[in-house]
Amino acid sequence: MAVNISNPLFEKLGMKYPIIQGGMAWAGTGHLAGSVSEAGGLGIIGTGYWHAEQVRAEIHRAREVTDKPFGVNVMLMSRHIREVFDVIIEEGIKVVATGAGDPSPFLEELHQHDIIVIPVVPSVAMARMMEKKGVDAVVAEGMESGGHIGMLTTMTLVPQVVDAVSIPVIAAGGMADGRGVAAAYMLGASGVQMGTRFLASEESEIHQNFKDAVIKAKDVDTLVTGELIGNRARVLKTKMSKAFVKQERELVMQPVMDADAREKLENGSLRNAVIDGDKENGAFMAGQISGLVHEIKPVAQILDDIWTEAYELLDSGIQK
Ligand SMILES: Cc1cc2nc3c(=O)[nH]c(=O)nc-3n(C[C@H](O)[C@H](O)[C@H](O)COP(=O)(O)O)c2cc1C
Repeated sequence: MAVNISNPLFEKLGMKYPIIQGGMAWAGTGHLAGSVSEAGGLGIIGTGYWHAEQVRAEIHRAREVTDKPFGVNVMLMSRHIREVFDVIIEEGIKVVATGAGDPSPFLEELHQHDIIVIPVVPSVAMARMMEKKGVDAVVAEGMESGGHIGMLTTMTLVPQVVDAVSIPVIAAGGMADGRGVAAAYMLGASGVQMGTRFLASEESEIHQNFKDAVIKAKDVDTLVTGELIGNRARVLKTKMSKAFVKQERELVMQPVMDADAREKLENGSLRNAVIDGDKENGAFMAGQISGLVHEIKPVAQILDDIWTEAYELLDSGIQK
């Protein structure tokens, strides 16, 4: 069986490598996203709950390092979402990625401005619904990923989504080298998205404590917060994340969940990790593949090493 590595969307964007640096709230800065695009991948700025002018400032920072296209990942639940979309349109952004939620209320407007829309989906049903609404591609993200996650693994989700839709499927979750990328292609994906690998890059602007934690992490060093109270997220095991899970268990034992306590538990913890490297109060979001990330490298080398290895694997076929 020949593997098809062409992807019309990536060709339209002029990408050298079929690799997206996934949007990461706080961690996916303009500098990182711009550097990935400049090196031939597609960088995506993670905007989380930022207000519109913060988003504009990061777009300008990306443009300091590249004149190639890059994307913006938006948080649909943000109360600034309308203004954020206005900035995206005004700034001539070419790709919008969305995490949880349904971007279809904005789809027609974004398409009118020739913006490619790529939502992340955790299930076949969501992928089908997104295709029906008219998105351009989907990212099928497995629960090995860092950050907020669904229930299925990349290995099980990707081929099922590939069979269910006709638009391009980009695989995410648990890839950090050429073997993972080649495997994603064998599952039928036509591109990959990585987050954790790019946290440990020279151009990543997360606190050094965070980079060190990713590099040091072993295979079993992540856990999932929100398993009981919702909003599941994969983070590195730290004093804080272990305490979070413990407190979560205690909270659900109470007859009525205390909203203030929950807010205190969750609020700003990713920011604490990314900006302050706060080992006490930070949520160091990173995926299970952290155990395979041993070195901080420039993004250009990450992209080239991974795609060279994947290409060789895909090209070599069966050895007899
Ligand atoms: C620190 C961090 C923050 C993230 N924030 C977001 C986000 O704001 N929106 C989103 O759609 N995905 C987010 N993600 C998911 C990534 O875009 C990407 O899909 C994921 O990291 C891929 O899995 P991997 O970590 O195994 O490479 C985040 C991931 C990490 C590690």
